[in-house]
Amino acid sequence: MNDLRPTIRLGTDAASLAEAGRLLATGALVAFPTETVYGLGADATDSAAIARLYAAKGRPSFNPLIAHVPDLASAFALGDINEAARKLAEAFWPGPLTLVVPARADGAVCELARAGLSSLAIRVPADATAQAILRAASRPIAAPSANRSGHVSPTEAAHVLADLDQRIDAVVMGEATPVGVESTILACLDDRVVLLRPGAVTREAAERIIGRPIALPDSTSEASPLAPGRLASHYATRAPVRLHAKTIAPGEACLAFGPNLPPGCDPARTLNLSPTGDPVEAAANLYAMLRRLDGFSPAAIAVVEFSMIGLGEAIFDRLQRAAAPR
Ligand code: TXA
Ligand code: MG
Repeated sequence: MNDLRPTIRLGTDAASLAEAGRLLATGALVAFPTETVYGLGADATDSAAIARLYAAKGRPSFNPLIAHVPDLASAFALGDINEAARKLAEAFWPGPLTLVVPARADGAVCELARAGLSSLAIRVPADATAQAILRAASRPIAAPSANRSGHVSPTEAAHVLADLDQRIDAVVMGEATPVGVESTILACLDDRVVLLRPGAVTREAAERIIGRPIALPDSTSEASPLAPGRLASHYATRAPVRLHAKTIAPGEACLAFGPNLPPGCDPARTLNLSPTGDPVEAAANLYAMLRRLDGFSPAAIAVVEFSMIGLGEAIFDRLQRAAAPR
């Protein structure tokens, strides 16, 4: 769909959020903030709205969407929740966790939003703006990150407009999103719990709740057909991304982490994810800093080495996809 239309800028006052919910309920595409990243919302029960959403993002339509609902009761109406899923839901919802569970036969999410799969991804966001919109819409809302497919995810309303202005009906002009990386996706489809995407809820925290280790997808089954967000190249900047940089070459921009800057870095083209080495601060800064460094049109974005513990796992996952061959 290439037809351009004005994109309405909505505020975050109660009347504007009610309007966002009303627009979603009539099939419109509305971007809004969550605690992780901005999502591009559409009625998950309306396949025409979902088709427009895929077109606006330029997303391959085999990539299934997450259904967002405001509370656990609404989530449990959409999917079959086993014991591990229930423990995780009670511990982390509302919050930055997505559970992939068997879709209920009587669930309202349309087949196109599920990309034809028998499973369904569900999330209950905690962010107050997202909560108000979901309650006003009063139906499950599919919300992929509000970027053109393959691009860096948006953590500010301005990032949404840079990718999607005149391609969507409205955007809620909220604050920068506090977490900065997407929700953790855990599949609870059999007696295992499988990490499909590391994210804001750390693997360690989830393992403490279920009391056993979380499995990684075995590359042939879960990873490829089920979670195309695991497509190797994703979150792509225009400049190539170089990981584990120990020195910075002339012409390169530098993404630093921690108190020490690598030799060779140009201060005018260096941004620091967290000078104190705090992974929470680093996650919140990641996408905005990638976009800013990309704006210098550097020969490459060189990223220093950092710890993979806690949120470091999600940050490294995103950088690895940004660095993957296009
Ligand atoms: O934090 C987030 O999760 C954000 C905000 C807006 O809520 N949303 C988000 O959505 O990251 P998206 O569409 O960019 O990523 C959803 C991921 C995709 O990688 C998709 O393949 C995977 O979830 N997914 C969705 N349904 C699935 C399913 N049934 N089985 C496996 N993976 C699924
Ligand atoms: Mg995305």
